[in-house]
Amino acid sequence: MFVTVLLLLVTLCAQRGNGEERAEAQRPGHVSVVIVGGTGDLAKKYLWQGFFELYVNQVSSGNTFSFYGGGLSPADAATPVLFEILKAVSCSRNVSQDRCALLKDQYLRLAQYRQLKSLEDYQELAKHIEQELQQEGITEAGRLFYLSVPAFAYADVSEKINNSCRPTNGAWLRVVLEKPFGHDFRSAQVLASQLGSCLKDEEMYRIDHYLGKQVVAKILPFRIENKKFLDPIWNKHHIERVEIVMKETLDVKGRIPFYDQYGVIRDVLQNHMTEVMTQLTMRLPMNLSSSEEVLQNKLQIFSSMLPLGKSQAVVGQYQAYKTAVQQELNKTKDHVCLTPTFAAVLAHIDDAQYEGVPILLISGKMLDERVGYARILFKNDIFCLQNHNSVHCKPKQVVFYFGHGSLKYPAILVSKNLFKPVLMDSEWKEVTEPTDVNILGLPISDYYVQTPTEQREAYSELISHIFAGRKNSFISTENLLASWGLWTPLLNSLANSFPRIYPGGADNGDLLDIRVKGKDIGYNSEVVIISPDQMGDMSAKGFQVMQGKFRGADMVSAWTEELVERLAADIQEAAEAAVHEGGVFHLALSGGSTPLALFHRLALHHFSFPWRNTHVWMVDERCVPLTELDSNFHGMHDHLLQHVRIPYYNIHPMPVQLNQRLCVEEDGGALLYEKEVSKFVNGSSFHFVLLGVGYDSHTASLFPGSRLDEHGESLVALTESPVKPHQRMSLTFSAINRARTVALLVMGKGKHELITQLSRVKDNPDKWPVTGVKPADGRLVWYIDYDALLG
Ligand code: BG6
Repeated sequence: MFVTVLLLLVTLCAQRGNGEERAEAQRPGHVSVVIVGGTGDLAKKYLWQGFFELYVNQVSSGNTFSFYGGGLSPADAATPVLFEILKAVSCSRNVSQDRCALLKDQYLRLAQYRQLKSLEDYQELAKHIEQELQQEGITEAGRLFYLSVPAFAYADVSEKINNSCRPTNGAWLRVVLEKPFGHDFRSAQVLASQLGSCLKDEEMYRIDHYLGKQVVAKILPFRIENKKFLDPIWNKHHIERVEIVMKETLDVKGRIPFYDQYGVIRDVLQNHMTEVMTQLTMRLPMNLSSSEEVLQNKLQIFSSMLPLGKSQAVVGQYQAYKTAVQQELNKTKDHVCLTPTFAAVLAHIDDAQYEGVPILLISGKMLDERVGYARILFKNDIFCLQNHNSVHCKPKQVVFYFGHGSLKYPAILVSKNLFKPVLMDSEWKEVTEPTDVNILGLPISDYYVQTPTEQREAYSELISHIFAGRKNSFISTENLLASWGLWTPLLNSLANSFPRIYPGGADNGDLLDIRVKGKDIGYNSEVVIISPDQMGDMSAKGFQVMQGKFRGADMVSAWTEELVERLAADIQEAAEAAVHEGGVFHLALSGGSTPLALFHRLALHHFSFPWRNTHVWMVDERCVPLTELDSNFHGMHDHLLQHVRIPYYNIHPMPVQLNQRLCVEEDGGALLYEKEVSKFVNGSSFHFVLLGVGYDSHTASLFPGSRLDEHGESLVALTESPVKPHQRMSLTFSAINRARTVALLVMGKGKHELITQLSRVKDNPDKWPVTGVKPADGRLVWYIDYDALLG
């Protein structure tokens, strides 16, 4: 039964005084909360409690509420289950027993179970809400749907909500979603567009419960409040390294069908730990309550991050995992299971503030203790000659301690040799009672310690933010895709890596200790424990680089990683030779996704590359502004140029935009580029040209059937692509075939058919443009990975 409890208690609830403004002014009215999956684990453990706390805080604010637990089961079976859950909610210490009993009673009366299976069920729910609003004569403030269901159901449930449960009359709709938001960049994009067709961005609240943890939520306010102390030291000159650590003692028994698809990187690094990293490193917003500014600043971090590849990660798997997989997934003993349950990743933000500062993200199951923290360790520039226990000789650090571990409570700790932090607000207090614990190398007495006056569950915190429409504690679509953009290449490169097997708990000893080696990371001890049965058929795959011939030219072939390493090394060798000979190296690079791995390799591993003497040219460009993601130059900039020390005047983007328009013949962009090439490059002969091949065998932006012979002697031409964006600017065969070395890079199973065809066809550049690549006095080398070569 719907009961409107208009409890007009005289006193208004004290607003939570956290120094932030309400993100959105809301008109009071009736709020319907629907937890889809309302009798599931998450709802039982956190959500009903969180909504109860919301109710307690809002009951006298002028809003009224009704709560619905939705599920697939029929109401007669699920209603008693729901009420058992509801009876277990509790009040915080500052609510008297009597008031608590009253509020609980109201909460129970305001809640009901509804079967939510078919579209009709959702339509009936909407009808029910509208009838009650009419009967009670109250205005509607909004509807909040919390989808506590598996991610595969998101699109379907959102569609039903969109079709039948949208409020009218300006009331808001908020739909809350929990991770996983996809499995990689692609799947996240698909899910985002499915959701985007039913819900507006501002209606979606993607939860990352770490953003609701009290200490994580205080990172930005702490940085702002203590700006005067932190500003001078929060940079590459003072920070030794950043560690974000989440150690767990539990295994994943019972969760394997989910976990085995994800592993630790997708489960916690891509989301929780990435969120913490961005909170620690993002530019401070001028206005903390401006969601737009906070989210934009966060996004910037992703675009400055160095790419993550295999050398930036180590992975492990606890010993008992394999047996658990066999049992829970009904697998045989030979099943090869590479899912990591432990990972340590070394990230770098390549901007003026943090360049060179190692950022470690480490998490694992079955470790020796349960603890989570982020530690900023500062360089200690004092040399202590004698008394090493003096306060100024000790580690200088700020620790955001999420909870558990030896301290047992959440806290922010600042070592006393740094500064005394400002106490942020009345919800936080300084801890002064002496205890005998040691936190990350220092006795607690060596820290200033602050902790929340009352510990709150992350979910309760976030539910209050959803209600307030405060979007900066949630994951925007852009943010989500940027994070997957960072993690997906690493996940792909680790797909066939053997995790180091660890026994679990204290027995792990120093097996999982890691060592940072420049921009790479490795295990500190060299032991590699791979049981023979784990190897399975993987052992058959060799790793050596093979040399051969393809279409009469030289061919290098290897697994992707090794192939890219080899190509990068060959480019460096060509660069050094050219610089030695003439003081300059002219390199022309293609766009698209194939060369990205090469760009990463060059940026991360080739520190002695003679960039100062290198001119970077473009093989082709799409006729879009250079600032667009589609632009080849944009990709080249983000994945390579911004990470290497190349003088600006050595970079030569193609002038696709002239006179505020794109690739118009009369503007003469192609001719302009040609003149630039002739001016700088001796005989217009590049030292090294990197090309790719498309599925239709196009190379550069020279497509089949587009009368390539019409380019004559021109070095640069405007061309047409069959796919969008149609207009292109490209080097012609005349330019390409003057080069000293041309490398043709072909990778991925998707190119196998093409390679097979190319191995058979005769030269016919009109039909198979790539067959027109024939350097007159130079050398052509095909770099083909085993996937493309062998299928
Ligand atoms: C969840 C992960 O998101 O976070 C779990 O799926 C992990 O694997 C949990 O155990 C950790 O959360 P907390 O709040 O216990 O640190």
